[in-house]
Amino acid sequence: MNYLIGIDVGTSATKTVLFDENGAVIASSSYEYPLYQPHNGWAEQKPEDWKAAVLATLKTVKEKSGVSAEDIKGIGISGQMHGLVMLDEAGEVIRPSIIWCDQRTGAEVEDMLKLMPRERWIEITANPPLTGWTAAKILWVRKNEPDNYARCRHILLPKDYIRYVLTGVFATEVSDASGMQLLDVPGRCWSEEVLRTLDIPAEWLGRVYESCQVTGQLLPEIARAVGLSADTKVVGGAGDNAAAAVGTGVVRDGRAFTTIGSSGVVFAHSSQVTIDPKGRVHTCCCAVPGAWHIMGVTQGAGLSLKWFKDNFCQDYVAEAEKEGVDVYDLINRDIDKIPVGSDRLIYLPYLMGERTPHLDPDCRGVFFGLSAIHTKAHLLRAVMEGVSYSLADCNDILTEMGVAVDQMMACGGGGKSPVWRQMLADLYRCQVKTVHQSEGPALGVAILAGVGCGIYGSVEEACDKLISADKCCDPAAGDAEQYAKYHELYKKLYVNLKDSYKELAAMPS
Ligand code: XUL
Repeated sequence: MNYLIGIDVGTSATKTVLFDENGAVIASSSYEYPLYQPHNGWAEQKPEDWKAAVLATLKTVKEKSGVSAEDIKGIGISGQMHGLVMLDEAGEVIRPSIIWCDQRTGAEVEDMLKLMPRERWIEITANPPLTGWTAAKILWVRKNEPDNYARCRHILLPKDYIRYVLTGVFATEVSDASGMQLLDVPGRCWSEEVLRTLDIPAEWLGRVYESCQVTGQLLPEIARAVGLSADTKVVGGAGDNAAAAVGTGVVRDGRAFTTIGSSGVVFAHSSQVTIDPKGRVHTCCCAVPGAWHIMGVTQGAGLSLKWFKDNFCQDYVAEAEKEGVDVYDLINRDIDKIPVGSDRLIYLPYLMGERTPHLDPDCRGVFFGLSAIHTKAHLLRAVMEGVSYSLADCNDILTEMGVAVDQMMACGGGGKSPVWRQMLADLYRCQVKTVHQSEGPALGVAILAGVGCGIYGSVEEACDKLISADKCCDPAAGDAEQYAKYHELYKKLYVNLKDSYKELAAMPS
């Protein structure tokens, strides 16, 4: 039997899973690390933390599995997109990574628009300049930290830094590179025009591969340290969303998924380059060679619920520890008792600004309609509903663009919650399904590794073989109508607050 490993370098933790070639989970391990927020709207993590997490989890899954090193043929790496990792000549990390949800680059996005018209940015990179994407972050470091910029010799995305640690190779692949704003997305290669316009040296960027191509093998010292063979191949892998697509079988036209992790994403596969002229959803290369995807992004999805839990739910945490259950199961138990609309309470999930549909780094979270009747369970339900309204905004844009979706899957931590899936089904007014295989991005990149190592003929073939449908949630007629009314009011709230958000952002802190 052949075995494959998938690594997912997430925002709250790295998860590493060892699968057999039939997709069964043999061993899995996860390792958490902090998110640093030195200022309102900033978000950083330490690449050294990701490295420690990957090495520890690789060692653990190898030991737990009892599988012999020679049978583990390939590794795929997935991870949070857009983060900037800068390395010096010696390959040392220069500064903490500025990650996907960081919103400090409003001025750099303005600069990018002065250098090249918005339409041209969209033509080449398939997206307008975006605050969370890597190019604006590079410009921010150049402007604000010239010494760090002067030392820079390599620019990598989070999972590609891990590739460098594991293999010594500087490389990336098309799905994650699409989120740097430096890639010619239709052409699937670095854009000389963009690099020239921004004056970023091309030699700082790794070679671009397709997601299932082999990019290198484990360095002997790493292989020894984690108990694997130095013959183990490492494939391109994918950004977490493109990886989750493979892990849920979203690899053909008509297939889509919603994931609720730290971010929330509504993702649809597309065999054509399909671009929203208003730039509200992203178009990127997907992990299936020769195909693309369109995705809308909610910045603070699971992040909102985790923020609320970490700050205000010590009672739930204590009960969960006492009962030996998951704290989110207790939260789900209680919010299920609260009516649709949370008794007239609406949450705007803009803790880290918002991407789809507003592209606004300055908006912030709101509880609207607080009354003395509201309990903690009302606030928790409102948070989950608010995230669902934002995801419905994403889904509505895909519909407006004419992207046909005949299967909507749910995945990510939030996708495990039946209450959250029901909210999505009611708001989207379509069935929302899950797959039996719940490992999402880790399974997706293990499949890509299997394709790269010749175990599977193609990504599509592997998905047909390994992934099977599980639960299905139908929209509930009365609730769907009620949610639709709340969603309309939710949409008005941003419009009404837009100018006040700008005023708030200009306040002294
Ligand atoms: C996608 C995005 C997030 C991150 C973190 O554009 O920013 O989904 O990949 O998960």
